Amino acid sequence: LVSLSVGPGVGQEVQTENVTVAEGGVAEITCRLHQYDGSIVVIQNPSRQTLFFNGTRALKDERFQLEEFSPRRVRIRLSDARLEDEGGYFCQLYTEDTHHQIATLTVLVAPENPVVEVREQAVEGGEVELSCLVPRSRPAAVLRWYRDRKELKGVSSGQENGKVWSVASTVRFRVDRKDDGGIVICEAQNQALPSGHSKQTQYVLDVQYSPTARIHASQAVVREGDTLVLTCAVTGNPRPNQIRWNRGNESLPERAEAVGETLTLPGLVSADNGTYTCEASNKHGHARALYVLVVYDPGAVVEAQTSVPYAIVGGILALLVFLIICVLVGMVWCSVRQKGSYLTHEASGLDEQGEAREAFLNGSDGHKRKEEFFI
Ligand SMILES: *[C@@H]1O[C@H](CO)[C@@H](O)[C@H](O)[C@H]1NC(C)=O
Ligand SMILES: *[C@@H]1O[C@H](CO)[C@@H](O)[C@H](O)[C@H]1NC(C)=O
Ligand SMILES: *[C@@H]1O[C@H](CO)[C@@H](O)[C@H](O)[C@H]1NC(C)=O
Ligand SMILES: *[C@@H]1O[C@H](CO)[C@@H](O)[C@H](O)[C@H]1NC(C)=O
Repeated sequence: LVSLSVGPGVGQEVQTENVTVAEGGVAEITCRLHQYDGSIVVIQNPSRQTLFFNGTRALKDERFQLEEFSPRRVRIRLSDARLEDEGGYFCQLYTEDTHHQIATLTVLVAPENPVVEVREQAVEGGEVELSCLVPRSRPAAVLRWYRDRKELKGVSSGQENGKVWSVASTVRFRVDRKDDGGIVICEAQNQALPSGHSKQTQYVLDVQYSPTARIHASQAVVREGDTLVLTCAVTGNPRPNQIRWNRGNESLPERAEAVGETLTLPGLVSADNGTYTCEASNKHGHARALYVLVVYDPGAVVEAQTSVPYAIVGGILALLVFLIICVLVGMVWCSVRQKGSYLTHEASGLDEQGEAREAFLNGSDGHKRKEEFFI
């Protein structure tokens, strides 16, 4: 700031610039010299301790290195910048008047990856509350939430601890079973990060829900002597840890072997007929699936069993075909009718009533075009 030296004969000056660095980064402080004539240049730290005296190290801190000392500039380099390095660095030029200029070093703190936590276990139909915390940043980091690339509205709060900020944000939303495994992102940003960069943490939603169960059979038609494997596909969070197989209110055949999700029924006989069920439960509910087993004679001619989905698909197809036929019939009928009426009008026009007739009558007055609109 002081550069008013109009000393005897010489216009020596020193100039410098403010510097901003991210914590842990490298800062360069440059003292620009003008018309340097060999005077002593001193660089001091914010506590006014001399770092370099005309190019010679004075303070024992290896993080400061003299990079350049030329008649044009003195450049020092500070590596591993810390918050306590902040402040004004003095570039002093000892001529007859001392000139100095201060380079203010600002140390920013980039946020670390945020810590995302859930307040309590989410259950389907309820709400989940997530919190995102960045304990150190400077300036205070801005926290944002995203889910499926859409931003969620969070509530942020900050607290200053000395030179750094601790910031937190919470977000709440309703969850369903389909949200289990979904990803929510908390993003932290401030000027200490390169532009366009941010620190993100992904949180995988854990939504508990009641179980479901479905039975798949290894084959559609079962004859005596066959081996049938039934598989019970269960879902649920927490996952039901046990699957119970039953047959109506009778006991399972003795040959039946139930291992986890599968029930194996070897060497089937007709006495194995029955309604087989698998059941699973967790703390949120209970699910049961049924399978009706019919064991046919080995020689029996069995019509291919149509399972329910096929019946539905068949029904829909039949309906579609029916609709298409209706539309076609309708179109044909309409076009035939139009032509017929048109001709009728041309021919007589007397067997029609109302507007159509008037149209015809008017039409004969030279407004022939109208006819077609009323037919
Ligand atoms: C450098 O920083 C100081 C302190 O923040 C400020 O007063 C001064 O105006 C800044 N100088 C420049 C050139 O930005
Ligand atoms: C200060 O250092 C510069 C560069 O090494 C040198 O030219 C100059 O003579 C020194 N000045 C004094 C007074 O020692
Ligand atoms: C099985 O239970 C049904 C009702 O669920 C009952 O009508 C039937 O009598 C029971 N069969 C036997 C063998 O207990
Ligand atoms: C099992 O079902 C088949 C087919 O309906 C039938 O022919 C057979 O008699 C049944 N057996 C028993 C024991 O119910």
